[in-house]
Amino acid sequence: MRRKLPAVLVCLAGAALALSSGAAAGTGGLAPEDPVTPGAGDIEQIYFLLSVIGAVVLLFVVVPLATFVVRSRGRGRSREEEGPQVRGNTRLEIAWTLVPVVLVAIVIAFVVYKAPGIELSDQASARDTLSIDVEGRRYYWQYVYPNGVVGIDRLRVPAGQTVNLDLTAWEGDVIHSFWVPALGGKFDAVPGQTQDFTFRATKPGVYEGVCGEFCGIQHAAMTVEVEVMERDAFADWLEGEDEAQRGGDSDLGEQEWEGVCSKCHRLAGQGEPYIGPNLAATQLRNAESIEAIVRNGQGSMPPVGGGWSDRQMDALTTYLSEELAPRAEGGGGTDGG
Ligand code: CUA
Repeated sequence: MRRKLPAVLVCLAGAALALSSGAAAGTGGLAPEDPVTPGAGDIEQIYFLLSVIGAVVLLFVVVPLATFVVRSRGRGRSREEEGPQVRGNTRLEIAWTLVPVVLVAIVIAFVVYKAPGIELSDQASARDTLSIDVEGRRYYWQYVYPNGVVGIDRLRVPAGQTVNLDLTAWEGDVIHSFWVPALGGKFDAVPGQTQDFTFRATKPGVYEGVCGEFCGIQHAAMTVEVEVMERDAFADWLEGEDEAQRGGDSDLGEQEWEGVCSKCHRLAGQGEPYIGPNLAATQLRNAESIEAIVRNGQGSMPPVGGGWSDRQMDALTTYLSEELAPRAEGGGGTDGG
């Protein structure tokens, strides 16, 4: 049995490789996402160089290994029988030292050659930069645009214009990481520090991303969507949203419910309680009680709304009061508290 172990290992490795390639093909293939910023193409070239070298090395290791396993198998020989005793082979030893050194040198040279040119933005468009404040929070992304408009999870940016994200995490929070592969780069959001992520997206569309730093129980739910819009459409949206949020009739409250609360809680009629209690089964009925718990947290619930502006808090309390009120009145005795 022990002698069959190498063959079994080779078969297992092959099967794992085949399965993982298949799985990767299902989500868009082994290639990285199509770049939509100027420098992300250079990152892609480095990826391809590494992939090709890796594939060649893999072949040169796995094929001889499989051959030796087959050719040198027992064939009924006695276990005591010794094979040929080989001592030293200068040429072979020089070869297996030199080849990896040369390969690593090629990789280093290519990366050093490419790295200075990797800019996710460019000088030409940097003159009219749009700055957006981004805050990573458990477990959502909060955006504040220059005119004060607030967004949750979905970031909207204009195509062809340099965008500068002032990236941080809320003071009482943990480290998150803003990662949208199509934009290139991955940037940590650290409490108490601000870091610039500057890019110019060239192609309108919606690009998915995730939080790239394990940050707690709902880390996996902390997704990002970047919607790259035509410049005019973006300007119209920003202006319209500003008016709606000032007037208190935007969908900000719903965005907050979806992005901030619903990752752990459900309302009545939305199935079993989730990570936290179902809101209809709590004492939350009015704006004051909602604000208190959202600002300060409670038990294992973090202060998800600590530092929120009145605009943000009003949007959520208005939305939730409307969602909860009919149930409070109609629910009568079923309200367990
Ligand atoms: Cu935020 Cu993981």
